Amino acid sequence: MTGHVIDLNDVTVSQWNAILKLAHDIKEAPMVYAGACRGKIMGTLFYEPSTRTQMSFQTAMLRLGGGIIGFDNPSTSSVSKGENLKDTTKIVSGYSDILVMRHPLEGASKAAALTADCPVINAGDGGHLHPTQTLTDLLTLREEKGRLEGLTVGFCGDLKNGRTVHSLLKALSCYPDNKFILVSTDELRVPGYIKDYISASGKTYEEYSSLEEVMPKLDVLYMTRIQQERFASREEYEAQKNVFRLDAKKMKLASKDLIVLHPLPRVDEIAVEVDDDPRALYFKQANYGMYVRMALILSVLNYKLESQPLLRGEIINDATCTNPKCICHTEKYLPHSFRRAGDVIVCEYCDGRQLL
Ligand code: CP
Repeated sequence: MTGHVIDLNDVTVSQWNAILKLAHDIKEAPMVYAGACRGKIMGTLFYEPSTRTQMSFQTAMLRLGGGIIGFDNPSTSSVSKGENLKDTTKIVSGYSDILVMRHPLEGASKAAALTADCPVINAGDGGHLHPTQTLTDLLTLREEKGRLEGLTVGFCGDLKNGRTVHSLLKALSCYPDNKFILVSTDELRVPGYIKDYISASGKTYEEYSSLEEVMPKLDVLYMTRIQQERFASREEYEAQKNVFRLDAKKMKLASKDLIVLHPLPRVDEIAVEVDDDPRALYFKQANYGMYVRMALILSVLNYKLESQPLLRGEIINDATCTNPKCICHTEKYLPHSFRRAGDVIVCEYCDGRQLL
């Protein structure tokens, strides 16, 4: 079995910790690893725009001595002629030793992994998950707070569509004594399946509508952008876009040990004046992303991270996922695969829940 990285929670916490340890070692002595991927090729299929994820993966592979191929805009590839995800994945995975994919539809990386001939790394699938951002965030917390447990972590902004939020909440739920403070409008609350995950892991969360109120309680504040591209209309986005803004006045309410993270890109949710506050670590966080992706590439290529089988549920061909953003609607050849959870079935691509 190849070591696809689709959802971090498919592999064990000790495997995440090993990647974080390796990332730390690479950061301390990068030249030791300079030729570690000589002769290896990474394919990058970015169906959706990216600065940090794409370029940090590319520089990670180049710094390890490997090569890169791929596209950053599907309109410059044969996707523009109607080639499906299955065929593109099959072809490029045959040219590559590892494939990194970002796609606007939920579950796309898992769908690609079903036919890929090399490990697939999910670099963001719609509003669903972003596991390599989560490894970046975990490395930042470990390096800057010295621990991954016993933290009160505030999440603010678009908690409904923010895939980085979903992945990080799931990951931090696996470490002891973490608490979550979720700040958003009612329209942009964390999805139910993520709340269920937090509760099932024995952790607690509280929901708020005011950033001022929670600032003094936090060890970490994870700000996020309102995800304009995930809204059905411009009007719905306009109603949400400036509700939360971190500025110097709000920073005064927080502990001197707070750290502020943001997966970036930023729009207006953090005032530029906050950049000069030593507690603002979001640019450093992006730099940690390069080291963690070097560690991830090495781990997948050299040690084959053990993934669970990709589809573990039941094929129910007369059931259809009700999430319109699920990859199963555009890639019609995909088996309709669901897990049963009580009286609902859960789509195995996007985690969307529906009554049978
Ligand atoms: N954090 C993140 O995923 O940034 P990009 O969209 O620029 O890759």
